[in-house]
This record gives sequence, structure tokens and C-alpha cells, in this order.
Amino acid sequence: MSLQKAATEVRENAYAPYSGFQVGAAVRGASGTIYAGCNVENVAYPEGTCAEAGAIAAMVAAGETRLTGVYVIAGSPMPVTPCGGCRQKLAEFGAPDVVVTMATTGGVEQETTIGDLLPGVFSASHMDG
Ligand code: THU
Repeated sequence: MSLQKAATEVRENAYAPYSGFQVGAAVRGASGTIYAGCNVENVAYPEGTCAEAGAIAAMVAAGETRLTGVYVIAGSPMPVTPCGGCRQKLAEFGAPDVVVTMATTGGVEQETTIGDLLPGVFSASHMDG
């Protein structure tokens, strides 16, 4: 199972009746295992969760807390970048040089890194002293 296949498949299960925008995400844990998640919306809109959050939750639930790769896919004309909150979530578990691949269901792929997505990340070191 590749990150691309896992994210593409889980996107089919996205629950997005309000936006109509289905997103799939997959992360590779440090063990090599791949975890997938989709967006899960709610009629109380702010309660919805992003695909990336779901994939991270699956990884942590399985006992892993480091990730080495990320893939996000949506049915958009241009690859969709993780939202601000998800960038911080990714930074919690992945090093700045971890590659984040953003893709469209039409086959366009774009690569960035966790560090490039969130310059000036808030980190534990900010709470020192
Ligand atoms: N969404 C994600 O799941 N991940 C992203 O990277 C961007 C946005 C979801 C949230 C919401 O369910 C829908 O896409 C529209 O914003």
C-alpha cells in the first residue's frame, strides 16, 4: 500500500455533505506503517475535522508518534494545501524536512515540506525558561 493509494481510497469515505469537498490523507509512521484519514464534517460546522487530523489520530491510536511522509488528495483543480491548524498538527509529529505531497484526483502532484508549510512554528522550546 502506498501513501498515494491509501489517501485516494480513504477519500472515498470522506463525509462532506456540507462542503461537498472530499479530502483523503495518509501518513507514514516511522515504523513504515501507513495510516489514512478523511474529512468528517458536522452540521455544527466548526466541529468538522480535516483528513490530515484523521490520519494523525489513526497513527497515534496505533501507538506511533513520529511520521516520515504525508500525502493529501482532493478533487480540486489545484493541489490543496493543509489548513493552518493541520500544519501545526503535522509539525507535532513530523520533522521539518518531511515531504508533504499534495495531489488532485486528476493526477497533479506538488511536493513541499512540513517546515516550508509552517515557518515560525510554535514549538516546545517556546515554553522553556
Ligand atoms: N479539508 C481537509 O480535510 N484538509 C485540507 O487540507 C483542506 C480542507 C476539508 C475540511 C472541510 O471538510 C472541507 O475540506 C472544506 O474545507
